[in-house]
Amino acid sequence: MSTRTSSRPPGPQGRLLVGNTAEYDRDRMGFLRRARAEYGDVFSFDQRTIVVFDPDLVHELLARTNGDFSSDSSAVSTRFDAGRSTEAAKLWMVVRRAGWRGLNRATAQAHADRLGALFEHTLDDTGGRPVDVMTTMESFSGRATADFCLGPDADGMLEVIAENTAAIEPLSGSSQLFPAWFPSRKVSRFRRARDHTLDSITARIRRRAAEPAPDEARDLLDVLLAVPGLSELQVQRLIRGILLAAFGVPAAAMTWTVWMLTTRPDLWDRVAAEANAWAGTGVPPLSALPQTEAVVKEVLRLWPPTWLMGRTALKPTRLGEWELRPEDQVMFSPYLIHRDARWWTDPDELRPERWLDPTVVPRRHSYLPFGAGPRVCVGTHLGMLQLTLATFWLARNYQVSAPDAATVGPEFHNLLVPKGFTASFQRRQ
Ligand code: HEM
Repeated sequence: MSTRTSSRPPGPQGRLLVGNTAEYDRDRMGFLRRARAEYGDVFSFDQRTIVVFDPDLVHELLARTNGDFSSDSSAVSTRFDAGRSTEAAKLWMVVRRAGWRGLNRATAQAHADRLGALFEHTLDDTGGRPVDVMTTMESFSGRATADFCLGPDADGMLEVIAENTAAIEPLSGSSQLFPAWFPSRKVSRFRRARDHTLDSITARIRRRAAEPAPDEARDLLDVLLAVPGLSELQVQRLIRGILLAAFGVPAAAMTWTVWMLTTRPDLWDRVAAEANAWAGTGVPPLSALPQTEAVVKEVLRLWPPTWLMGRTALKPTRLGEWELRPEDQVMFSPYLIHRDARWWTDPDELRPERWLDPTVVPRRHSYLPFGAGPRVCVGTHLGMLQLTLATFWLARNYQVSAPDAATVGPEFHNLLVPKGFTASFQRRQ
């Protein structure tokens, strides 16, 4: 066992005052790749931030979330308060566990019956014209998640969440955090959008709570209202958390899927053959779509929307051989772990077959599109279901035309998206 103790890992010095921020913002992925090549699996980005590439250390970080590390992230910076963060995490975990019941495979499969109509409605609304694919897929995931959470009360929520997300974007997409008191238009817009979202959800919770409880839960709100002891505030926070988490992230994954299928006709044919072979009634189970599911897993490996993630130390602690002080940040990139030749054969190659060979098992902790540990994505099963079924309906019922797809590249911003990707969706006759 190593007895070496070092307080900080080495890292690029950057420029006076601005440190590495300017160079990082110019080319985020290039900067991280260069730093990894020079410093290895851990490096210091600045005095308070280290970046980790080793999957075992990342796994340890994620597993120790809530206890030693916080996963809090706010669009505006408030004074970090470890006590408040730990308290908030405890309350969140109570409601998260309650929500988990509403997000299990059985309820997700029941919701799948309504998904097809939502997907086709979203694509048909485009009228076959070229559209920004990310915006279109946000409409789909926003509608799908609002339906899942609020069922008959979902109307109008897509617009509310779209505005809330748009108001967060300019704040969280920047490496510079704006203080909460900062008198800027961006911060006021964010506050207004956040309050409007909370008010819209509360109104729906109150309306539903005043109705007689149904015999069977129709949506997540029914599930949560049947849990004794959950406060209105907890229900509101969980629903808001889910509506925001399940808007842009699955949409980015679906946008990559469409982009990939338009640039790889061989894979389109494979997925379409599987979709057309489905002769059953209703929605196919995922077990009937192994090729499509493998394509989705491979898309999430090569282009994980949450390409950069982080945690904040809650107390003096260590990670590996490194000492951390409270409020130190630890960042890692699922994108780079997913493309590391030490863990993946032909890491930059799109090869869905790797998910179909039972003898090939990915290296432990090297696949993290949904995170891991106590704060792993709540919607892992639902997300896989939505993406796989949407790909199935796309290949079965639509023709996609994207003449400029080959010139589209990745954008490493708040999320990883194919930059400016447009396409048109025509219903097959
Ligand atoms: C392709 C689809 C999706 C991907 C790739 C994805 C990815 C992620 C990731 C990486 C995290 C952070 C995990 C961590 O910090 O360890 C996360 C958190 C979360 N996701 Fe997802 N997600 C997807 C779909 C969904 C869906 C459909 C829902 C809703 C039902 C959802 C709800 C959440 C929530 C509520 C959190 C916060 C969990 C917490 O902090 O306790 N996600 N997701």
